Amino acid sequence: MASAAGNGAGAAALMVAASILALAAGGSAQLQYGFYRGKCNGTDVEAVVQSIVRARFARENPIVAYLLRMQFHECAVNGCDGGLLIDGPGTEKTAPPNLSVKGYDVIAAIKAELERRCPGVVSCSDIQILATRDAVALAGGASYSVRTGRRDRRRSLASDVKLPSPEFTAAQTVAYFGGLGLSAFDSALLLGAHTVGATRCSAIKSSRLYKYGGRPGATDPGMDPSYAFLYKNNVCPNVPSSDNNVVFLDDQWSALKVDNHYYKNLQKKRGVLACDQNLYKDGSTSSIVDLLAKDNGLFTSLFPKALVKLSEVKVLTGTQGEVRKVCNRFN
Ligand code: HEM
Repeated sequence: MASAAGNGAGAAALMVAASILALAAGGSAQLQYGFYRGKCNGTDVEAVVQSIVRARFARENPIVAYLLRMQFHECAVNGCDGGLLIDGPGTEKTAPPNLSVKGYDVIAAIKAELERRCPGVVSCSDIQILATRDAVALAGGASYSVRTGRRDRRRSLASDVKLPSPEFTAAQTVAYFGGLGLSAFDSALLLGAHTVGATRCSAIKSSRLYKYGGRPGATDPGMDPSYAFLYKNNVCPNVPSSDNNVVFLDDQWSALKVDNHYYKNLQKKRGVLACDQNLYKDGSTSSIVDLLAKDNGLFTSLFPKALVKLSEVKVLTGTQGEVRKVCNRFN
């Protein structure tokens, strides 16, 4: 009896899980290429997004890093639903890992222009995905198509924000992305976003330079000694005032270019965050790193595919959610 009830409960849980999966698939299945064609009073929505991103990129190249990171922090928390954009106490934006996310103003500028041309039509969540796509192409990555038709969620809670730790092992990183429906290959490709942008010394001072493994004075042996020397003596000296000094995630000359140089650095133990370097420690991901390090064309063509998969995680479509009037407030 007890076991029959147990089986019943198990079957029900499976059905619920299956329907949740179907719903999730249903959302992304309703996305379409060119969803906004003919819906914005003669305006080419994607062209408007592109022109604003292009103008911003011309004055501020790092916008590509801001938007890529924003796409990740957006899509990994309840899906690509605009939840990160909401202002106010206790929203996703206020969660510690999101405090250093930037680029909200470019999303707001695009939204304002599109609202002027066709009010209530283009969602903030689609603007995020289109803008990131355009910035990647401007920074040397491939041009790629994305499907649109996402809707904005009426939920944004800091307590929902569970983002990965920069100290993650490769297995933890792969498991994390697995939870979003992405593969080990996708995980290694997505961390390739660290080919652009920067962090601060505080992210590596204790974990890698001065207190590796919790041992005072210890430096991560997994870091190229010449880079460790450079960081310790130049960029991130062991004084509190260096905490906010900038550390490029890829070599400085390549830090604004979407290319495979990040993987070449991992092969040389020059990954900046522990989670980056760990991709080359673990057999299951190190072969992927080798593959991507040797062929920039391969990285350039596959990186967008992983971004597209990320951009379709748990989207709302159809009559779900809403199309916000402004991106930082629910309607
Ligand atoms: C295990 C997964 C990941 C971890 C632990 C991680 C962690 C971090 C950390 C700690 C920073 C530095 C933030 C700061 O100092 O303000 C950073 C920056 C960045 N991350 Fe990630 N990240 C991960 C995956 C991703 C993914 C999937 C993307 C995009 C597809 C991404 C894009 C970026 C970019 C572009 C920056 C630089 C931002 C800037 O310059 O403002 N990251 N990441």
